[in-house]
Amino acid sequence: MDYSKLAAFHDLEPELENFSDTLVTGLMKSPKSLPCKFFYDKRGSEIFDKICNLKEYYVTRTELSLLEKYSTEMLGLFGNDIHLVEFGSGSSKKIRKLLDSGKSIKAYTAIDISKEHLLDSCSTLADEYVDLSVSAICADYTRKLCLPTLPLNSYKKIGFFPGSSIGNFSQEEAVSFLKNAASALGSGSGLLVGIDLKKDTKLLEAAYNDKAGVTADFNLNLLFRAKKELGISFDLNSFQHQAVYNSNLGRIEMWLISKTNQSIEFRENKFVFTKGERIHTESSYKYSIDDIKELASSADYHISKSWIDANRLFSIHFLSLKN
Ligand code: AVI
Repeated sequence: MDYSKLAAFHDLEPELENFSDTLVTGLMKSPKSLPCKFFYDKRGSEIFDKICNLKEYYVTRTELSLLEKYSTEMLGLFGNDIHLVEFGSGSSKKIRKLLDSGKSIKAYTAIDISKEHLLDSCSTLADEYVDLSVSAICADYTRKLCLPTLPLNSYKKIGFFPGSSIGNFSQEEAVSFLKNAASALGSGSGLLVGIDLKKDTKLLEAAYNDKAGVTADFNLNLLFRAKKELGISFDLNSFQHQAVYNSNLGRIEMWLISKTNQSIEFRENKFVFTKGERIHTESSYKYSIDDIKELASSADYHISKSWIDANRLFSIHFLSLKN
């Protein structure tokens, strides 16, 4: 891969959490839990791409169609000479809907923890959009971030955080992410954020319990990794996927349930599972428009404009800093 077309690349050398230590700590908790960031190794990221194309998982296609329909209006609100900064850019696909709608975005900076993937997708983008200044920053955007000086640094910065990734944060984490983003982007900046909406429990649970079992594979990938990378001996089939909507907390919870009484040995520890015992693996918070107003306000933003699809499944918001 030729990275020479990138305007800049900064490796902030994010500290990678150790899977083995995290697993031991998580399985000692009550209830047992494992952080969802470990879903995304190469295999997990490929499974996640399949989730995004599932009939039941309305999130991706609804957000893409909102971006497609309203991108001109979004660009109009951003203003001229824009430097767009995407947090957790993955394959930088959604950004194309904005780039294809006008010429006001002059620079694009992608921030992602996965260096290879980041460099590959940014290089492809730079190849295709020859007038765009494309930079890449390898960093963990969930931590406080100080952006390095970038090409076209004085242009107005607009953050982009699609996919309802904000939903995988607790409410406090979401507020601190928004505050960190505001200080990284600087005064006069704005943030375009995609947020999944509260809706009928049946629809929500179907989206996380697809018929083809892709989400189950995604969830079980944590245990697949534990076997493959850490050599832990247990039967993968002795666990099953569960996703339920917790209406009190307004979130989908993903769990891995032990189908039998069993114990798993790892690094001088013996983890005992009773039949039906669960490991919490992910929370995906869903928001009402009032929840979003409150969230934005707690982070000193206000909503300048919201876009919601006709079925009120998903929302995109342009947040501006309060004066
Ligand atoms: C990445 N994130 C927003 C997804 C979600 O909907 O919470 C991850 C996911 N988990 C299961 N399906 C999709």
